[in-house]
Amino acid sequence: MRIGILTGGGDCPGLNAVIRAVVRKGEGIYGHEIVGFRHGWRGVLDGETMELTISSTRGLLHRGGTILGTSRTNPYKTEGGVAAALDTLGRERIDALIAIGGEDTLGVAAKLGGEGINVVGVPKTIDNDLSATDVTFGFDTAVQVAVDAIDRLHTTAESHDRVMVCEVMGRHAGWIALHSGLAGGADVILVPEVPFDIEEVCARLMHRHRRGEAFSIVVVAEGAVPREGTMATQSSDLDEFGHVRLGGIGSQLAPEIQARTGFDTRVTILGHVLRGGTPTAFDRILATRFGLEAIDAVHEGDFAKMVALRGVDIVRVSIDDAVRELKTVPPELLDSASVFFG
Ligand code: F6P
Repeated sequence: MRIGILTGGGDCPGLNAVIRAVVRKGEGIYGHEIVGFRHGWRGVLDGETMELTISSTRGLLHRGGTILGTSRTNPYKTEGGVAAALDTLGRERIDALIAIGGEDTLGVAAKLGGEGINVVGVPKTIDNDLSATDVTFGFDTAVQVAVDAIDRLHTTAESHDRVMVCEVMGRHAGWIALHSGLAGGADVILVPEVPFDIEEVCARLMHRHRRGEAFSIVVVAEGAVPREGTMATQSSDLDEFGHVRLGGIGSQLAPEIQARTGFDTRVTILGHVLRGGTPTAFDRILATRFGLEAIDAVHEGDFAKMVALRGVDIVRVSIDDAVRELKTVPPELLDSASVFFG
């Protein structure tokens, strides 16, 4: 078989480990040919490919990013995009396509499945917001990077008696904020799922400082929003999938906290630092297991599936179901963590 592979959406530590596993087993065990498409769906539209072999994919396990490149191109939002994609796949004699991505990339894969393309999906996102899998690779690395940063912010916050606001990624889901905030001992965690009340946030900080603590750590997801009418915010642009380009709530929050509490407050925006660099061992292993399962699914002709982690097992689920719903932080979970706040 001639099997295409692409990485779409935001990059994520572990993508190269998936590519390596697909090639190692696809070529080495099954004798298939693997063709990489450059820059996600853009490479499929433009016919930009790269041959992948065992020797060209050596040394990738620990490397962050993606050797294929990525983009947020959406064939369904590009004029003539679907026809161009089908044309390239035909011309390249692609028997099956492995799409590695989040809800957007996999959503396109699912739709192309409906056009007769044999697709298998691999879930990827540092946000961990795909409901059909317990965890996505990249999440563990992002949380670890955030926790390292929060630990560092702690010592400088303590030295200067400051409030440190640390903004992490997380567009619709606050998993990174919740996990890094819990592991980093944050005093306030704000997530997109539960609009925050700035007065409550400040009251918590004041309460903590009255108890004798002279510093605090606030972890805020980039997608967190104030409860309507409680604090002014700025609007942002949309990408091709209609998502708002975020990053900035921390900068709005910090002066507001300082103005309302009088505490010296600073902001650190971790942003893309969370997505860059080497994956943790957990993410390398999860990505490798996903890659091996994806190539097995293709080899067996088990299409329109997405590989997923359920408990300790790697399973296959319907790709349509997989992209149907986002996995967000249940408010009860945030609530149960609040025992450590303030
Ligand atoms: O979806 C993953 C993610 O890292 C989000 O957390 C973030 O909002 C977005 O990508 C940023 O996208 P970009 O790199 O295109 O600005």
